Amino acid sequence: MKASVIALATGLCLAWPAFAGESVYLDKSKPLEERVEDALSRMTTAEKLDIIHAQSKFSSRGVPRLGIPDVWTTDGPHGIRPEVKWDEWDQAGWTNDSCVAFPALTALAATWNPEMSALYGKSIGEEAAYRNKDILLGPGVNIYRTPVNGRNFEYMGEDPYLAGRMVVPYIKGVQGNGVAVCLKHFALNNNEVNRHNTNVILDDRTLYEIYLPAFKAGVQEGGAWTIMGAYNLYKDQHLCHNQYILNDILKGEWGFDGAVVSDWGGCHDTDQAIHNGLDMEFGSWTDGLKAGRKNAYDAYYLAGPYLDKIKKGEVGTQELDDKARRVLRTIFRTSLSADRHRGSMCSEAHYDAARRIGDEGIVLLKNDGKVLPMNFDKPGKKVLVVGENAVKMMTVGGGSSSLKVQRELSPIDGLRNALKGKADVEWVRGYVGDVTGEYNGVTTGQNLNDSRSKEELIAEAVAKAKDADYVIFVGGLNKSAHQDCEDSDRAGLELPYAQDEVIAALAKANPNFIVVNISGNAVAMPWVKEVPAIVQGWFLGSEAGNSIADILTGAVNPSGKLPMTFPTSLDNVGAHALNAYPGVKRADSDIYDLEYKEGLLVGYRWHDAKKAKPLFAFGHGLSYTDFTYGKATIDKKEMSADGTVTVTVPVTNSGDRAGAEVVQLYVSDPKCSVMRPVKELKGFKKVFLKPGETANVSFTIGKDALSFFDDKAHAWTAEPGEFTASVGSASDNIKSTVKFTLK
Ligand code: GLC
Repeated sequence: MKASVIALATGLCLAWPAFAGESVYLDKSKPLEERVEDALSRMTTAEKLDIIHAQSKFSSRGVPRLGIPDVWTTDGPHGIRPEVKWDEWDQAGWTNDSCVAFPALTALAATWNPEMSALYGKSIGEEAAYRNKDILLGPGVNIYRTPVNGRNFEYMGEDPYLAGRMVVPYIKGVQGNGVAVCLKHFALNNNEVNRHNTNVILDDRTLYEIYLPAFKAGVQEGGAWTIMGAYNLYKDQHLCHNQYILNDILKGEWGFDGAVVSDWGGCHDTDQAIHNGLDMEFGSWTDGLKAGRKNAYDAYYLAGPYLDKIKKGEVGTQELDDKARRVLRTIFRTSLSADRHRGSMCSEAHYDAARRIGDEGIVLLKNDGKVLPMNFDKPGKKVLVVGENAVKMMTVGGGSSSLKVQRELSPIDGLRNALKGKADVEWVRGYVGDVTGEYNGVTTGQNLNDSRSKEELIAEAVAKAKDADYVIFVGGLNKSAHQDCEDSDRAGLELPYAQDEVIAALAKANPNFIVVNISGNAVAMPWVKEVPAIVQGWFLGSEAGNSIADILTGAVNPSGKLPMTFPTSLDNVGAHALNAYPGVKRADSDIYDLEYKEGLLVGYRWHDAKKAKPLFAFGHGLSYTDFTYGKATIDKKEMSADGTVTVTVPVTNSGDRAGAEVVQLYVSDPKCSVMRPVKELKGFKKVFLKPGETANVSFTIGKDALSFFDDKAHAWTAEPGEFTASVGSASDNIKSTVKFTLK
């Protein structure tokens, strides 16, 4: 056959995909990049534009002509949101989309156990896969800069190292199902007030040492396939299209090859969206098929307006191809991946996972006189449970992480189940908080109305408390507006609904008094001295009642540690002490400038620098057994620049029951040319010990753990000299230190 005919035939094959052999892009055994390039080469410009913006509230269009499916996203970090109507926030009213609510991510962080994070990610990823979702809009790892931030319950605390260690297994667990995470909210979204128009100002050291590390770990170690741009601004550019954070750092320095997804309504400008790193535009403030336009989605910044610019020659298609590649990469990693699992939903394994995570996340803050665990050796005891949070469903509300659960066991029902046949359990209201129970059309079905006065409610509780063997107050916050809720911050640390008065009255009425605080944030405890036992309960999801009962009855020995400081007052929180929240409104626009004046000194870093005593410290958490630390030793006194040192400390369970201790390693750089926090968390290990058992817990310290970000050199560096390694059971409970020198 003449060469020209061969050339023609070959050309035809290449040019006319319909006639090409097996299409590479659909071959799940082919390398990812080959599939991406093959699919891209077959797509028209219009099809490339289709896949980079929403077609409905939570989906973007695929390429039907090529058999490339739509991309379906779903909230949220704690469970799979119910189906919503095509272009609405309101739920569609399906009857087969109830889910398991896993504990909030503060509770996961409080386990300090990466295995729990892996279990969490695997389980929630299975629920997402079963519901045919390709992108899970979570987890969130924004740093806990202020305890009034409404969304802290969705995040993993105040320390970048802890949040980084704890987010990686979650990501791997979810993505192991062939479902992408969407790490959020990248970045600097550390409060809810003015979240769409706050321009965060901070120095590079603070940015790189405090606010980026958890995201960097999620991208580079967790391998996050997508990441969500935040609403706020940095250097006057919205984070959904931000040259500095998305192009220079995320895609440049970190080599992120996935897709940047906008927060819903976070995209504001076509030129910036084209050039500053956005790949998928969702939720732009149009009202889809309703707001008058033929189809508002064509009006998205990365839709018609983008096509117009291409047609006018104002912009090429290079950026479009890059965006389309990133979306295709996501599709071939999820719905068209050979590793896409079928998943499972509402399985007993998922309820068991939720309970185990809750059991390990609950923190025993105080236990004077060993009031806990409650003892029911003698029959006929009476337990009085007081408080709205003992009965109120917590899985409905709080914002986009709100869920429609198959079941949610309340604290009172968990306690009743656990104490059946052992004690009589009675509940009284104690206080009236938020009697509503609806979010986006999902209702709790509870009728919490109670017209009695505060005085009547307290009198009733006190009267009953007098002859109870145990009194348990279950209160805290409740995901209502300004009470741990998206799009609103709290007014302060104080508990709402006059709970302090109820607690103080009950403390006088009965010495066997336990307070269980349900919240995602630190709260003020003016009664802390009068209450012998205090438990931090978090928002625990479907298995809340079981986990709380497990801990209070001693079925499970508490092992949680606080992932954030509980300050005694906002005066000991840099953001507030320095009047660096919520920002200053510009005269000529609706932008608020918010300068992170406290810099690195967030949480325990502030308390150490100011020698301020917290109410309860970062890393604090008690056990029903005791742990004794021996002397820490180090394998060598000098560490070479590319070497390591290993610090070992013996930890013994010196009590009478099995338990788990989180041994924490903090590193100090006392003599440095720049200001550094007194100490920083650089390692932790949760060890499970039987009575009398000793574990030699070792930490290997490398140069990374000694380094600070040199913003002049724009590089991480460690200055030679003396360092201190401190091991302890909390940031304010150091047991042993060793010194060493970096050569
Ligand atoms: C919300 C939240 C984000 C959520 C998204 C979709 O505004 O900021 O976390 O995933 O919109 O509901």
